[in-house]
Parts: sequence; structure tokens; C-alpha cells
Amino acid sequence: MAEELRSSLGREALAPQWDPPQVDTTRPHPARIYDYLLGGKDNFPADRAAAQVALRALPELRAMARANRAFLGRAVRFLARAGIDQFLDLGSGVPGPGHTAQVVRAVAPGARVVLVDYDPIVVAHSMALVDGGAGTGASASADGGSGVGRLAVVQADVRDPQELLDRVRVREVLDFRRPVAVLMVALLHFVAEDEDAPGIVARFVREVSAGSAVVISHATDGGQPERSQAARRGWDQAASRLVARSAGQIEGLFAGVEPVAPGVVPLPLWRPDGPVTDDVGMIWLNGGVGFKREA
Ligand SMILES: C[S@@+](CC[C@H](N)C(=O)[O-])C[C@H]1O[C@@H](n2cnc3c(N)ncnc32)[C@H](O)[C@@H]1O
Repeated sequence: MAEELRSSLGREALAPQWDPPQVDTTRPHPARIYDYLLGGKDNFPADRAAAQVALRALPELRAMARANRAFLGRAVRFLARAGIDQFLDLGSGVPGPGHTAQVVRAVAPGARVVLVDYDPIVVAHSMALVDGGAGTGASASADGGSGVGRLAVVQADVRDPQELLDRVRVREVLDFRRPVAVLMVALLHFVAEDEDAPGIVARFVREVSAGSAVVISHATDGGQPERSQAARRGWDQAASRLVARSAGQIEGLFAGVEPVAPGVVPLPLWRPDGPVTDDVGMIWLNGGVGFKREA
């Protein structure tokens, strides 16, 4: 019935069921623009319009979004197989196919995962992973039966790491005395030049114990600053603008950790599962995985 109504009114006519109150859906949001680029349905007309601005300048953006999701999967599987069983996913995004909790569960079903995002719609949608959709607050945790859950969703802004960490700690899902993988995948390019992205990473590295890992992917300008700038106009009206950083600046984000081979590289080159089929020069995202060693 709802589907009939939806098709008779047109796709834009009915807001998705999970649209929580007090969310301005007329303003594009990074998570929903990315969802649209990945072919998801959890986005609004404003997000699609913003994505179209970007796609007109850079049609390869869809391939870049897919390459980023694929990198996320490879990095999480690598860490889970290396024995990491705690994941703090900052800027977790709409939980579509290949999202962190899904990948972790497939490799390490007992692992603990905290999903953090500043977008209330992402948080609402992620709550569907917790208690099969129960719980409606801005943060909640799945009860694993012992009073402490294995999955929590937290609404927080990475630009205030202390507040974010306080909100995560109160969930009691992660044990910071043991190694934690901190994911900042396609997140830090939403941190402006004057908001100290390296300082934000350093704060999380300080918080975690030796043996912990950091996963970062980040946009570059692909050596084509004009096209990059034209594409990034898609995020000009968004909740956060998109900043491209140089390969050297992205490598600098790993200052407190030791990147594993092959280092900080264009994403398709980071431990590919098979022959690289992407046109590497057209994937304008670099990243890697680094471990915090003993002091
Ligand atoms: C491009 S999506 C990436 C999603 C996921 N990490 C992935 O790579 O598949 C970026 C995410 O970061 C979130 N984000 C952007 N700025 C943020 C901030 N300051 N604090 C928390 N989350 C933020 C957005 O809401 C969005 O969900």
C-alpha cells in the first residue's frame, strides 16, 4: 500500500519512514550524498541535487565511493583477522551493504563495534542494527545479555574528540585497555583546514593502547585541482564542506602510528583482494592502516 502510494505520488512525495523529527532534510548531508553515490535509497532530493553538481564535474565519483567502501571492507577484515576485536567507527555513515558492523560480524562475530556519526539520520538508521530497531535515543547499545552490549550507536562530532570519547566510554562497549581499531574512513576531508585534522587523529591515538590501529582514507585533488574544486562545490551547501588534502598531508595524519605495507597509498593499491581493475589515477582517495607501537 505504502509502495503503491509512493509510486503514484512519485519517489520524492513521501519522506522515508525513518526520517526523525527536527531534521532539516532540505540541507544536503555528507552521509546521504555518499549513500546516493553508492546507489543507496537513504537520501533526499537536496542530497541528490548536491551529488549531481559533483558528478557533473567528476563522473568518476561513484567509482571513488565504491573504492572507498571496498577499502573499508579490506581494512576491517585485515584487522579482524589480525585479532582486533574492538572497532570504533568514526563517521560510520548510513549502514548500507559493506558497512563496518556487517564486515566485522562476518569475520569476528563476537567483536565489539561502536558506530559514531554526527548526522541524526545516520544515527536513527544505525539504530536498526541495535535490538532489531528498538531504542530511539541518540545513543543506545545492544544488550548482549550481560548488561554490556556488543554494538552501540553514538551521536557525536569528531571535532570535539573529548566529548565524543566521553559518550563512547559511557556505553561501556569498548575496553580501552585492550587494542581498538579506530576508523576514520572518508571522514577527515569533512574537517576544515582550521579544525586541526592531525590533532584530532593524535587525540584518538593517545587514547588507545599499544597494539591499537588507525584506519584512514581521505580525498586528494587527483592532481587536477580545477576539476576537484568544481566537484567539491557539491558539498558547498552541505552540513560540512569537503576539503582535499595532498598525499603528503594525508600521510602526515598517520604521524603517531606505523603504517603497515604498502603504506599510505591510493585506495585500490592497499592490499587488493585480486588484480586491480580500478583506474587508479581516477580514484582520488589515499589511505592506509597504522598500528600504535609500544612507547
Ligand atoms: C563519506 S561518509 C563515510 C562513511 C563510512 N565511513 C564509509 O567510509 O563508508 C562520511 C561520514 O562522516 C560523517 N561525518 C562528517 N563529519 C563528521 C563529524 N564532524 N563528526 C562525526 N561524523 C562526521 C558523515 O555524517 C558521514 O556519515
